[in-house]
Amino acid sequence: MTERTSRDPLLQPYQLKHLTLKNRIMTTAHEPAYTEDGLPKERYRAYHEERARGGVGMVMTAGSAVVSRDSPAAFGNILAWKDEVTPWMAKLAEACHAHGCAVMIQLTHLGWRTRWDVGDWLPAVAPGPAREPAHRAFPKVMEDWDIARIIEDYADAAERMQAAGLDGIELEAYGHLMDAFWSRQLNALDGPYGGSDLDSRIKFSLEVLQAIRDRVGPEFIVGLRYTADDLVEGSISEAEGIEIGRRLKATGQVDFLNVIRGRVDTEPRLTDVIPVQGMTSAPHLDFAGKIRAEVGLPTFHAARIPDVATARHAVAEGKLDMVGMTRAHIADPHIVAKIMAGQEDRIRPCVGATYCLDRIYQAGGALCIHNASTGRELEQPHVIEKAATPRKVVVIGAGPGGLEAARVAAERGHAVTVLEAADQPGGQIRLLAQSQRRSEMIGIIDWRMAQCEELGVAFQFNTFAETDEVLALSPDLVVLATGGLPQVEVLPGGGLALSPWEVISGEAKPSGRVLVYDEAGDHAGVQAAELLAKAGAEVELMNPERGISPEVLGMNFVPYMRALQAHDVTFTVGRRLAALERAGNGLKAVVGTDYSTATYEALFDAVVINAGTLPMDDLYFELKPLSRNLGEVSQAVLVAAQGYPFPQRAPDAAFDLVRIGDAVASRNIHAAIYEALRLMRLS
Ligand SMILES: Cc1cc2nc3c(=O)[nH]c(=O)nc-3n(C[C@H](O)[C@H](O)[C@H](O)COP(=O)(O)O)c2cc1C
Ligand code: SF4
Repeated sequence: MTERTSRDPLLQPYQLKHLTLKNRIMTTAHEPAYTEDGLPKERYRAYHEERARGGVGMVMTAGSAVVSRDSPAAFGNILAWKDEVTPWMAKLAEACHAHGCAVMIQLTHLGWRTRWDVGDWLPAVAPGPAREPAHRAFPKVMEDWDIARIIEDYADAAERMQAAGLDGIELEAYGHLMDAFWSRQLNALDGPYGGSDLDSRIKFSLEVLQAIRDRVGPEFIVGLRYTADDLVEGSISEAEGIEIGRRLKATGQVDFLNVIRGRVDTEPRLTDVIPVQGMTSAPHLDFAGKIRAEVGLPTFHAARIPDVATARHAVAEGKLDMVGMTRAHIADPHIVAKIMAGQEDRIRPCVGATYCLDRIYQAGGALCIHNASTGRELEQPHVIEKAATPRKVVVIGAGPGGLEAARVAAERGHAVTVLEAADQPGGQIRLLAQSQRRSEMIGIIDWRMAQCEELGVAFQFNTFAETDEVLALSPDLVVLATGGLPQVEVLPGGGLALSPWEVISGEAKPSGRVLVYDEAGDHAGVQAAELLAKAGAEVELMNPERGISPEVLGMNFVPYMRALQAHDVTFTVGRRLAALERAGNGLKAVVGTDYSTATYEALFDAVVINAGTLPMDDLYFELKPLSRNLGEVSQAVLVAAQGYPFPQRAPDAAFDLVRIGDAVASRNIHAAIYEALRLMRLS
């Protein structure tokens, strides 16, 4: 079926000025932080090209590509002020155009939303002195020559993008410089660019638009992604947002609006603009539809529209002209191709984990928690090729790593059997998905089970695999994905404590005063604390670092903090639990610190220790001497993603052996899935 012959509202073309977009689905601007020297090179191109190949109608590239030197990259942004950006963007545009996908780019000046101690060490600038809490720079209040210079910078960057052959640009106006001018709260300038009247506060934006039009002419597509209500008292109200939209339209220089509601200056506010798992779906869709009706410009919007049904509703009901499915495409770049092939049920679901976005601020490039090919298109393509020789693969453990190994091995054409001790698949994910807020995580398992079933993978549940059972299956390759078990005996008396798993599973229901000692600093600790607090316990969350839950990154932490604060959890940082002893019906905790030798004692009814897991590796060590590779993996082959990864140390043996995920060492879901993918692709 082609887009034109389908009746699906999502597959209808959309005419934006002279540009025909082949369907109604786009990816909105999102900086994946794949830049090298601030430029979108091969990795960046391959990432967008994959989405273009997958059928998306338009990619809004970059995210906050910066137009000025005093807007240094805050999260791996493209430096649109560099002339070298043009040939790289041209290459990217050409690659996407070859698939009939339109290409635009978001340009911005970050204003207060950056730092002064990166890039060229120039002061951050803003129309007022307020500090953005998230990036913590106190900005310089802009002078007339700053305004004039930055207007020219916008025009220069727009001209570069036109020269690169892009179809258009989008100016970012939420939480950055442009909307800071609009805000009565943030704009502290007097006239002509500040003051009480909207005419003055919008003057900077209108001059930027004029300068851009003077360079790129009337045909080139120019739009704005703007907050039409930043939800901050005394800043930009909905009425003003609508008025700004109308004035932008009245210039005749704006071709579309991409609607945002909210502001992004703190992590909680950012999370309300871009909701994470467990939060409401499509919370701002009706608002975007209202702006479309009130302003009357072509309207785009994205905010947790993760599934095709909601996207279809948004377009069919006339709320949007183009619907953004951004994280959905990070999870599965081939959404449109699957819709067109009648395979919507094969779409790998975005489970809202927001590992992708959290990573760009704190850990480097965007990665999807359960699609390890995203961002690695060059060495781990999304489509898996058949192996030259089909083999017999036995996977032990049906957690995320084991199921990914089974799925990829089956895609390679191998005959796969999975042995699982429990009566259901899922491992740790089934456990954590028991919390309502994280229940979508089960999509990681359900999608793999559906794929495996289609590919003919055999499953044996309630099977605690031992050496004989494994050998009886005559495998060519054994993959140990048995996971780990929580460890609590990390300090004297640790065995008296509960593990977070016992709390999350509901197996243990401690009440009264409960200490959650969080040494691992990952989800399990705060998830247990949240459940306990909600069940009425008086919870103290303690960890040895200077902040809480260092492994739970920014946006993921927001719902936890909201719940923990609402239930009056006590936070104790910089303290290390030294020992536990029985005391009556409860426990005495001896608490130390890394900062001195001081200790104190405190009584609790129960203590939970979150200290990661220890590998369940007995079977691995039993099988190791029987295997051909003696368990060894060639790291050189693995990293190069070429060759056969198992050195043949005992060529007469019958099978190769590898262990993955937490069966090796306590890590996260992405690590287990990536390990499975990269090993099975070579097997
Ligand atoms: C990794 C990542 C980076 C992002 N960076 C930007 C950005 O620079 N500018 C922007 O306007 N939006 C940015 N966004 C927000 C997206 O455009 C989109 O609004 C958001 O992901 C919600 O849509 P979704 O639920 O379809 O993912 C980013 C999103 C992600 C996941
Ligand atoms: S990390 Fe989570 S939110 Fe991001 S794309 Fe993957 S599944 Fe979606």
